[in-house]
Amino acid sequence: MNIFQLVQDRFKQALTKIEGAEGAAAPMARSNRPEFGEYQFNGAMGLAKKLKSNPREIAAKILDAVELDDLAESLEIAGPGFINVKLKPQWLGEQITAALTDPRLAVEKEPEQTVVVDLSSPNLAKEMHVGHLRSTIIGDSVARVIEFLGHKVIRQNHMGDWGTQFGMLIAHLQDKLLSENVATTALSDLEDFYREAKIRFDEEEGFANRAREYVVKLQGGDQECLTLWQQFIDVSIQHSEEVYAKLNVNLKHEDIMGESAYNPMLAGIVADLKAKGIAVEDQGAQVVFLDEMKNKEGEPAVFIIEKSGGGFLYSTTDLAAMKYRSFDLNADRIIIFTDARQALHFKQAEMVGRKGGLLKAETSYEHGPFGMMLGKDGKPFKTRTGGTVKLADLLDEAVERAEKLLSERESNLSADEQKEIARKVGIGAIKYADLSKNRTTDYIFNWETMLSFEGDTAPYLQYAYTRAMSVFRKAEIDVATFNAEVIITEAQEKALAVKLLQFVEAIAGVSANSTPHLLCTYLYELSSLFMTFYEACPMLKDGVAEETKLSRMALSLLVARTLKQGLELLGIETMEKM
Ligand code: ARG
Repeated sequence: MNIFQLVQDRFKQALTKIEGAEGAAAPMARSNRPEFGEYQFNGAMGLAKKLKSNPREIAAKILDAVELDDLAESLEIAGPGFINVKLKPQWLGEQITAALTDPRLAVEKEPEQTVVVDLSSPNLAKEMHVGHLRSTIIGDSVARVIEFLGHKVIRQNHMGDWGTQFGMLIAHLQDKLLSENVATTALSDLEDFYREAKIRFDEEEGFANRAREYVVKLQGGDQECLTLWQQFIDVSIQHSEEVYAKLNVNLKHEDIMGESAYNPMLAGIVADLKAKGIAVEDQGAQVVFLDEMKNKEGEPAVFIIEKSGGGFLYSTTDLAAMKYRSFDLNADRIIIFTDARQALHFKQAEMVGRKGGLLKAETSYEHGPFGMMLGKDGKPFKTRTGGTVKLADLLDEAVERAEKLLSERESNLSADEQKEIARKVGIGAIKYADLSKNRTTDYIFNWETMLSFEGDTAPYLQYAYTRAMSVFRKAEIDVATFNAEVIITEAQEKALAVKLLQFVEAIAGVSANSTPHLLCTYLYELSSLFMTFYEACPMLKDGVAEETKLSRMALSLLVARTLKQGLELLGIETMEKM
């Protein structure tokens, strides 16, 4: 159950009973100072302005009209006319008990929508590098959350597998295969391969021409070129899939819908936009002028869809993808994750798509931009020698560092257990450090802070989970069948109960705004409240009454389940011991 929504609905109902207030907005906020209750209604001030009346008087009228007796112990008018809602401990206890018997932790499903999530989408000409960490894990987490809320999610890995570089790459591959005869050995290091091909392209007589010829042949469907291209693509995809497995992301081979898949649609898209008079010729190219987007000189922005002399572009492919997703996949929402530098591209693509009927009116087209990952020096993250960091290497280093840290701690875990835990901690740490930042800003990558067991980190949350579960091991109680009546008496118990029931509010926010950091913030706050509760409210000590012990254990179990579920929605694994 979503308490925020429930309370808001009650206020909306109350407004219908007040003259002049029917249909007025019902703004609300969560409050984080328990003395003011847990929720606050803020609508009286706006309404007073509209009705030319005194806000506190309006607040008093609303307070009379609102029906919250079942869940609130008190309602209070504060300040200029806020209404503070303090929830009843008994009601909270009942909700916790109910959530414990529900595998969905009392999170109701939303009315189903079809949501296309465009995520990861690396360029296959090179190996995956850190820039694609963000599009992969932010997209993965948002997709998981939306799915959990009851929607049909269609993942689309829009891999960059087409375009002019492939001419150069397949020409080089053809030559290498003369001596190395299998593509996997020739392509064992994609970065080296790309560099070699580029040098030949720039320096070797005749090679550039051959590369250009291969592009034309490839696009024309020449069998030999297509076979070479396919070999290259297969090896490169295999590299990406190794990274996905390490990263624990939900991306399957079937989710790949690369740029090449849209190739057959491109000519039709351009012809259609021309026929509609939306695309016009300009200096030999086919373009769409966007009058609604003018520069300082008053000239409209230009969206190119076919190069002069022929040849389609990244932008043409995005128009085709948009049409396919809106009309064939029937998307209610399309969400695309790329770095922020592409924001203008997607804004313009949407304008063209809306004009040209490539998007149904009811399909929402959303770009989820993200900032850059920076090194300690505040500059784009690079290797010590200034090269791009391969994602696979970064992930291996995370696990090695976690292994080292864990081996320095006292522990009675076996070597195998340690290894497995190190993997979960290392990968979890990298992912959490990224996901917990508001995605729109750049962030500084820092090994020390992300692997710390204290503060807003994955290891801290993973540790909070094991701590909540350890209570049951110590008491030798089976969690599978455990349930108990929750009786809330202490302030720490109430704060924890309220936070637990707000899980749904956090994930609804992630879904609405495509921002996983809201879930991270929530889980961190939950863990901190749990640690405080754990210190203040003993469970297994002598002298604790049986019903108090069971009630506190119930709270702990719901903490554990919520942490596990929440981390799973971030794509982060948990362990029973660490
Ligand atoms: N391959 C592109 C890149 O690496 C991202 C593609 C994102 N999706 C899309 N529909 N354009 O920047």
